[in-house]
Amino acid sequence: MDRYFVTGNPVEHSKSPFIHAEFARQTGQVMRYGRVLCPLDAFEATLRAQAADTRDGPFRGCNVTVPFKFEAFRLATRHTARARRAEAVNVLSFDPAEGWSGDNSDGIGLVRDIERNARVPLAGRRVLLIGAGGAAAGVLGPLLEARPAALVVANRTLDKARALVERHADLAGDTRLTAAPPEDCGEAYDVVVNATASSLQGAAIPVSHRVLAPGALALDMMYGAPAQGFLDWAAAHGATGRDGLGMLVEQAAEAFAHWRGVVPQTAPVLAALRRLIAEPPR
Ligand code: ATR
Repeated sequence: MDRYFVTGNPVEHSKSPFIHAEFARQTGQVMRYGRVLCPLDAFEATLRAQAADTRDGPFRGCNVTVPFKFEAFRLATRHTARARRAEAVNVLSFDPAEGWSGDNSDGIGLVRDIERNARVPLAGRRVLLIGAGGAAAGVLGPLLEARPAALVVANRTLDKARALVERHADLAGDTRLTAAPPEDCGEAYDVVVNATASSLQGAAIPVSHRVLAPGALALDMMYGAPAQGFLDWAAAHGATGRDGLGMLVEQAAEAFAHWRGVVPQTAPVLAALRRLIAEPPR
């Protein structure tokens, strides 16, 4: 049976095994999808050992989460264009003859969640992306491809935002793409995406509530308890808050389609995941 897993550190909280099991059931794919906790200093060795171990079936690929997306990029010898642009990989595929190839499905996952699930078109809108680390790098290209009127990348360390903007300048087209410090990043955005680790740390929201246009969509890439502070902030200032669960399911669907050649339906899986999180099994 073909074997897949999610790897990260930590990884026990990951919902990816649930999501992929649902996709497999829905599409009739025969596969196994587990979890591998990877030691912080042994990403490559762990993955090579997993790939070499065929006792439980051939290893075909894995999802990669924090903090290994940059190392996954370096492990892959072939990359999709969007992974090359992000310099980060969240989907690895393995073939014994061809080795490791890397993709990044985070950005398309975010865009599909915003446009299809939340039904907010991005074209012509003003978008604020907060953060310039791996999470932000993964989504900037696909956000630009959705053709917003303006896209501002706001980051505490301004140079990192500038570097990210420079690397994407040729994708901007008619979009005004700029970098700014979070304390002075403009006002009245239609869509605000928090791609910083601030929620995870329980830290303050790094931007003023004036970034929110009335009725704006304010999305935090986290979900569960860490996202709550951001969702409360959004609601208190007239915006619609959204957590990162939809993005998680959409990026997983893109990975699943890439590996298995069948596109799963995401809506029932997102609904099941929301039920699971609201009422975890005892
Ligand atoms: P990830 O892969 O999750 O993006 P990362 O590459 O370490 O992780 O990036 C973390 C991002 O969160 C960065 O944009 C970071 O800002 P700096 O580049 O200035 O470090 C941002 N970040 C982390 N903690 C933050 C906080 N308390 N307030 C604002 N931004 C924060």
